Formats: sequence, C-alpha cells, structure tokens
Amino acid sequence: MSPQVSTVKPAVHSDALVFFGATGDLAYKKIFPALQSMTKRGELNVPVIGVAKAGWHLDQLKARAQDSLEKHGGIDQEAWQKLSSLLRYVDGDYEDPATFAAVRKELGPAKHPAHYLAIPPSLFEKVIEQLVSSGCSSGARVIVEKPFGHDLASAQQLNQVLLASFPESSIFRIDHYLAKGPVHDIVSFRFANAFLEPLWNRDHIESVQITMAENFGIQGRGAFYDQNGAVRDVMENHVFQVMSNLAMECPARRDSESIRDEKVKVLKAIPSIEPCNLLRGQFLGYRNEKGVAPDSTVETYAAMRLEIKSWRWDGVPFYLRAGKNLPTTCTEVIARMRRPPQTGLIDNAQQNYFRFRILPEMTIALAVSVAAPDENGQRSLIELEACRHPRAEEMEAYERVLSDALIGDSTLFARQDYVEEAWRIVDPMLKAQTPIYPYAPNTWGPKDGVPEQILANVTPPGGWQIPEADSEATPGV
Ligand code: BG6
Repeated sequence: MSPQVSTVKPAVHSDALVFFGATGDLAYKKIFPALQSMTKRGELNVPVIGVAKAGWHLDQLKARAQDSLEKHGGIDQEAWQKLSSLLRYVDGDYEDPATFAAVRKELGPAKHPAHYLAIPPSLFEKVIEQLVSSGCSSGARVIVEKPFGHDLASAQQLNQVLLASFPESSIFRIDHYLAKGPVHDIVSFRFANAFLEPLWNRDHIESVQITMAENFGIQGRGAFYDQNGAVRDVMENHVFQVMSNLAMECPARRDSESIRDEKVKVLKAIPSIEPCNLLRGQFLGYRNEKGVAPDSTVETYAAMRLEIKSWRWDGVPFYLRAGKNLPTTCTEVIARMRRPPQTGLIDNAQQNYFRFRILPEMTIALAVSVAAPDENGQRSLIELEACRHPRAEEMEAYERVLSDALIGDSTLFARQDYVEEAWRIVDPMLKAQTPIYPYAPNTWGPKDGVPEQILANVTPPGGWQIPEADSEATPGV
C-alpha cells in the first residue's frame, strides 16, 4: 500500500498559552484539570498566562487552580508543582490597552502564543482588537469556546472578526464533543470494519435516531442557558458532530482538511429544518432557576427530524433529541435497518438495529433475531455487543483539544464553513419561535398538549428507543 500522502506542512508548537477567563467556571471545572494532565504527560512545557479582571494576584490564581484540581480529579504533586511553576497571571479589564501590554510583557520571547478565549462571545471582538493592537496576535493562534454565535448572522459576523486578524489555519473553534474518544471512534468503527459499509446506506437503513439525554438540570447556569436553550447549547454543535461522524464519507487522506471537508459535505446536504419538524419542551421548575426569566420560552428539550439529501442517505430520516432533566444521562444512536421480507416462514420478523452508545461508556451493538418465535408467536431480538472501556491513559476532552491546539492540529475543531452550515440548518426553525411545551423532570420530554402532527413528525418510525439507565452517569458542566 502506498504511504499516506500529505500536503500539509508540520505546524509550529505554540510557545505560550494565554487564557482569558482564568478565574471563571470553565477554567475551574475543566481547564486546570486539563492543564495538570498535560503537564503530567510532558505535553505542557510553555508559560501559561491566566488573564481575568478579578483584582487577583498570581498566588490567588494558584490557590484557585489547586482548589479546582482537588475538586476535579485530585492533585498529582509532581505535575502540579510543574504547572504551578509555569503559571503567570495578568489582572485587568479587557478594554484596557494596559492589560494587553502586560500580557505582551509576560509573553517575553514567545513568538507563537496560543490565546484561548474562555470568555463570553460578546467579548471576543474587544479582546481580538486588543490582541492585534498590542502586538500579541502576531504569529499567534486563537482558540475560541462555544457557543460560536447565536444564529447564522452572528456566527458569520464572529468569523469575520476572527478572520480579519487570524488565518483560518490559526483559528481553533472548540466543540469538546469532538474530542471525546467514542465520538471519533464512530468513524474508525465505520471504516475499519468491512461488514458495515455495505449496509450503511439508504438501501438498508430505515431511520437513525440520536439521543443526548442528561438527568440533571442547568446546574446554576441559568443566565447562560436562558440566552441559548437546547438547540444552541448542544444540538447544533455536539449532536450534529455525532451525526456528521455517522453520515460522512471516508476521507481520502488523514489530514485535518480532508476529514473536515467530508463533515462539511454532510451538513451541506441537509436542508434547513422546517419549524413543523421541531418540538421544544421546558422542564417544570425551569422558570424558578436563578438567572432565568420568569416567563422564559427557552427550550430545555428539543426533538427534531432532518434529512440528508445525499446519494447515501436520501430518504432516511434522522431524528435528534436532547434535553435536561431526562431520566438518564446518555448519548446513544440507534440506526434501524429495513424490515426483512415477511414471508410464509418468517412473517413477524423484527427490525435489526445498530446501537452506538457514546456516553457514559462506549458500546456498539447489533440487534439480531436468533431464535424461533416463542409459544405466543413472539420473536425477540438480542444484542451482539462490543464494549470499549476507556484506555488507561485516554485523554479527557479538554486535555485533547488544548494539546491539539498547541501543536496546531485542527482535526478536532469546527471550521468556519462547518459552523455556518450548522447555523443555516437550524436558523429558520429557531427564528419561528415555535410553541414551548412543559414536561415533568425525569420524563422523556413533553407529550401533553403537543399536536399529534408535531409528535408524529419528530418521532422515529417504531418510536424512540429508551436508553438503558447507567447508575454511574455523572453530571457534566
Ligand atoms: C456543554 C453544554 O457544551 O456540554 C452543557 O453547555 C452540557 O449543557 C455539556 O451538559 C455536555 O458535555 P459533557 O462532556 O459534560 O457530557
């Protein structure tokens, strides 16, 4: 076999990491633990400059980092000592040029810093302007957190702001779902097993359903959540990434652009979703949460149907649902196969299905019928199941994205055209402000009062398969 051909130049390693929002929630829950793990693996050997406006000193940032590590996975003394020696801190307002002059000073001889904006998107523009005018952007990368915009127009505007100061190859848009091992294992499973691909198309698959369920509420994030809702928070990014991995063609090469090209093609083939193919729900009690408007119409549950108009998938409906306060925490895909012919011998055959359980653990199953009908004439399916336990040294999603950004590997980041296509798909239905239906916590979304037609539009043929509960499921951020 000929070796992989690559036209991509090796990227330079960033020589400093600057992270804005150093005193925030994301830093506390995810970034410090990721930095400690990177240090432990020997992947972080550059200064880490935290920036925030908190009136703090470096010692306070270190104390906060230490507390974060104690609460999220524990302290590894050796790695922590090393991380602590790499930490720097700049306190100041993001509108004040003096803040960025201080960042520039801390950067010292660094020529290729990576600037991680772990801050609300409303601040991106200001921070980028200041990075440019202070000279901090030269030779640099920029890493941005989701949500990437609020709709298509704001995402395009944000892209313009970023692209005016950084080339696309230096922009890293995080969707941490992409960095979860089981999410990209879908792609390797598909293309590394010869039996699957001949079946993985419109001739054999009847419908695909993806559930992203969480058995917890909004965890004190009311002010953020009430500006977003389930579609913007997880559906058009995390769930779409899972769908793209399920639906994409095999990339011709292994480099980031070949892979991202294939994912964008999936989204390009999806027409914008009609409002009649969306059901929005809100759990009872949501409006009493701190930071949530008392008359909020923001959805904490969404179910939708879409189509992929490609040679492989035309005619196969994809059903997506995501919600807070559902009965379990689990992300799972069910791809139901077309029913076998009903003949004189086998006249009650059930549909085979593939099940990809992505979270909390990776399981891939194929449901098959192996036995003759029981005395009541009923046939049942059993699952042939393969589980993948996390490899001992598997990286957490944030460790993975930060490590990849520092070495300049864009594969697990969303490209400009991808994020804009995703917004194009959901934009019209979001703007339609469809009704919101209440549901009780610990149930599978709204039913009462929902028009039959809407329910029918967003329910897969044969119904939603209820994911098995997992007692060890832990809440996310
Ligand atoms: C985040 C969303 O992006 O992803 C949260 O803002 C969601 O609402 C979380 O809970 C799920 O990701 P994980 O990795 O915690 O399962």
